[in-house]
Amino acid sequence: MKKIIIINGPNLNLLGKREPEIYGTQTFDDYFGTLVEKYPNVSLTYFQSNHEGVLLDKLHEVGFDYDGIIINGGAYTHTSIAIADAIGAISTPVVEVHISNVHAREAFRHHSYFSEKCAGVIVGMGLKGYELALMGLVN
Ligand code: DQA
Repeated sequence: MKKIIIINGPNLNLLGKREPEIYGTQTFDDYFGTLVEKYPNVSLTYFQSNHEGVLLDKLHEVGFDYDGIIINGGAYTHTSIAIADAIGAISTPVVEVHISNVHAREAFRHHSYFSEKCAGVIVGMGLKGYELALMGLVN
């Protein structure tokens, strides 16, 4: 069974109540439950942290062992060379996801330090983007 982890960064614990006009009204726990049910043949886990170093530690922990990582780095996407370096350092393929279309928002959201290190990038498809990333990693 393939082992895939979803890693969410800062403020994504607030999904459901954070700017619902941008990020929707569903909590991530609720969405994650539907994914787990829909993909019983994938060993799917979920991790969230608001702390850059904790996200680095998790990438190091899973990055040589898991079959795929789906990461939404939140605002760290646009600031963190350290997380980009970690993505480049590990052997597990990483897919970057953004719920909103970052290219249709403020200019500072247009650049990602992660993208060039990732196997793929999915933006602007809402929470469905995590499922699209999962499909890409398992097929
Ligand atoms: C986000 C986009 C980022 O610019 C923002 O800082 C987030 C969420 C998204 O999923 O659309 O926290 O990664």
